[in-house]
Amino acid sequence: MKRFLTTALQDKRRAAPSSSAALGGRTTRSVVQGALMHRAAKPLLFLLCLGPLAWLIYAAATNQLGANPAEALIRGLGDWTLRGLWLTLAITPLRELTGLAVLARFRRMLGVYTFVYGSLHLLAYGWLDMGLDLGDIAADIAKRPFILMGFTAWLLMLPLAATSFNRAIKALGARRWQALHKAVYAVSVVALLHFIWMRAGKHNFAEPAVYGVILAALLGWRAWRRFTRK
Ligand code: HEM
Repeated sequence: MKRFLTTALQDKRRAAPSSSAALGGRTTRSVVQGALMHRAAKPLLFLLCLGPLAWLIYAAATNQLGANPAEALIRGLGDWTLRGLWLTLAITPLRELTGLAVLARFRRMLGVYTFVYGSLHLLAYGWLDMGLDLGDIAADIAKRPFILMGFTAWLLMLPLAATSFNRAIKALGARRWQALHKAVYAVSVVALLHFIWMRAGKHNFAEPAVYGVILAALLGWRAWRRFTRK
């Protein structure tokens, strides 16, 4: 957590040109670091994250979502929730592997966006599939295991989203905040199960397998780092 809170300071220190960079011009890493620290970087990421949503709304409004637009919209939002989750999980390994500490600046925004996409996915399902009938939604969650998995993943994301602001971080304290946010691993596993279960009905495991391999690498990397640090 301390690491998280002092990232900006570390970023500035790391951004200072190394002696080799000073001799041989700016290294690629310092150029990338500089670009990522630019004040336009966060607004740019904000807009980039809005991109898939803007496209889905545009495609829905212009009849480009195929024969079943409701299904395409729900699925599109589900896909982007999963991608957002994987990207958020990839920040720490990427940061350590590339030495670009500045990447941590973007983790919170990615996490909050993931929650927004997940909530829109839930809303689209509740509205377009279930007509916002809470009784029907509850019955569907109880009846279909893959919906239960999705709903569980979303519920697990709730406290993470609710405590992603500075005031909550201060109120909780570093240790408790960090412990709570470990739930992101459970969210990712349950979200993957939701995807696998959904595709199992169609015996189509190709995409879930790709997400599964990436998740195994991300979680495996963390476990290995934990093990080798001691
Ligand atoms: C972390 C939360 C969630 C993630 C990451 C997620 C992800 C996904 C993904 C990747 C798909 C498949 C898209 C495709 O086939 O291309 C999907 C489908 C679906 N999800 Fe979720 N989901 C989440 C939460 C939920 C919740 C809370 C619900 C509802 C309670 C839900 C209901 C559905 C439904 C109904 C479909 C299938 C739509 C269809 O019939 O084609 N999901 N989800």
